[in-house]
Amino acid sequence: MIFCRFLAVASLTATLASAATIWPLPQSVSYGSSSVETPQFQFIGLSSDDSKNAVKRYNPLIFPHSVEQTVDALDILVTIDDEDAELQLGTDESYTLSVPESPSSNSPITITAKTQYGFMRALETLSQLVDFDFDAEAYSIEGVPVEISDSPRFPHRGVLVDSSRHFEPISTLKIVVDSLAYAKLNVLHWHLVDSQSFPFDSKSYPLLGKQGAYSQFERYSPNDVAELVEYARQRGVRVMVEIDTPGHAGSWCEGYPEICPSKTCTEPLNPSTNATFDLIEGLFKDLTGGQAKSGLFPETLMHLGGDEVNTDCWTKSDDISSWMDQQGFDEDDTYAYFIARVQAIAHSMGREVIGWEEIWNHFGTSLDPSTIIHQWLPGSTVGPEVTAAGYRLIWSTDGVWYLDGLSTTWQTMYEAEPTEGISPSSLHLVLGGEGCMWGETVDTSSILQTIWPRAAAISERLWSDKNSTQNVDVAEPRYAEFRCHLNSRGIAAAPYDNLIARNAPTGPGGCLDQRRRE
Ligand SMILES: *[C@@H]1O[C@H](CO)[C@@H](O)[C@H](O)[C@H]1NC(C)=O
Ligand SMILES: *[C@@H]1O[C@H](CO)[C@@H](O)[C@H](O)[C@H]1NC(C)=O
Repeated sequence: MIFCRFLAVASLTATLASAATIWPLPQSVSYGSSSVETPQFQFIGLSSDDSKNAVKRYNPLIFPHSVEQTVDALDILVTIDDEDAELQLGTDESYTLSVPESPSSNSPITITAKTQYGFMRALETLSQLVDFDFDAEAYSIEGVPVEISDSPRFPHRGVLVDSSRHFEPISTLKIVVDSLAYAKLNVLHWHLVDSQSFPFDSKSYPLLGKQGAYSQFERYSPNDVAELVEYARQRGVRVMVEIDTPGHAGSWCEGYPEICPSKTCTEPLNPSTNATFDLIEGLFKDLTGGQAKSGLFPETLMHLGGDEVNTDCWTKSDDISSWMDQQGFDEDDTYAYFIARVQAIAHSMGREVIGWEEIWNHFGTSLDPSTIIHQWLPGSTVGPEVTAAGYRLIWSTDGVWYLDGLSTTWQTMYEAEPTEGISPSSLHLVLGGEGCMWGETVDTSSILQTIWPRAAAISERLWSDKNSTQNVDVAEPRYAEFRCHLNSRGIAAAPYDNLIARNAPTGPGGCLDQRRRE
């Protein structure tokens, strides 16, 4: 078995970077058996800064070795319907890419896309087609003519990064964003704050960051956030912020103890005082600008957490429990009241809200129907009921798509199916999914090799046609190639067949065959 897999990979080293190796697999791809030399590309028809900047980024990625130029650049004729499209959930990322057998100015390579973001996906695919021959010192595309027509299966394809359990510098997050775009992932779910630390500087409530961060330098200024969000947008990556309440918020009490049940019992946040909701409103204003599509996070979706609420600190507090009695609330009513008030604040700022699946498990169809449910509990099969009731779903089940689960194999991640059990008429309610990179054991020293290459298994599940991506053994050589592709760009993707995700190579070996060794 091991031997066969070895052979399958070895035979592919001969065909590095042809249409046969594109990751994630395009919806439709056909290729021939010729090859064409490609000294440089000249892109014709671009007008927006976004598109031109994308070409500037991709040029050195496509042509990483400098060579003496002896042949004319090949024209690529680009047609983009809307080159200044807004990036939101559902923004069109489709494209076509056609490389004729003998490209010329009369019969050029062509790319079409609906938006500049589709064009960026086409550039990534193109970059995976171009090969460098060290003996000839020349670039070529093998397997021409190539015809690709491509679009994502799901609109929401992300990785969650948690900057509370460890602070992740903006420079690190930028590399994560780069790497997401390489795999055609389009969402960075930023779990910005949690009980362990509050690294964001809120202008309205400055003590949150000042007192709640690990140290005075492990903080994000509003300008840091704005810069990252714009950096990601230019790469077709939406940044969706999460502010998790009423649990997972202990760090907030450092600066504002009045919003917590007590010094020693800090969460869930205190539901009995308006100070709590005033603070949340001020913080949300800092993040959203107080209205739709503006502020630091113009993204329409906002994640409000709502998970793992243990109400003991409420019932142990005399003030809170007498307030609950006055309202006629039990613990679950209080939890529901909290969630509804925070959702209303986000709605008033033009945001659509997401919550972890506990809010569905507690409140079901009494939730506002626009609420998006984020499935995560180990073994959860909540998707079919959520969607049958008309609610939208994002899929991240723990034990399957949790990247901090170091012994979860890429095969398990690849074989996951977010639409399992969901009726055909509700499939449109499955927005997609996310790999979750919880931060307890990752910081800058380890985050990239914990995310990669396994997040690529998730990216193919979310981008590619389900029927063409059912067999892990068929996918494996391409997956191994994609790991090398990431490495070639300096992304610290771990050996792909590690038993424990982020282990270093255990001995000498090439990029493709750094495989499992006991
Ligand atoms: C608390 O806020 C709610 C909602 O805005 C309001 O109806 C209520 O009067 C406020 N309570 C106090 C004591 O200010
Ligand atoms: C995928 O396979 C199923 C079951 O064989 C089939 O019914 C369906 O039409 C296929 N879908 C596509 C897009 O080929």
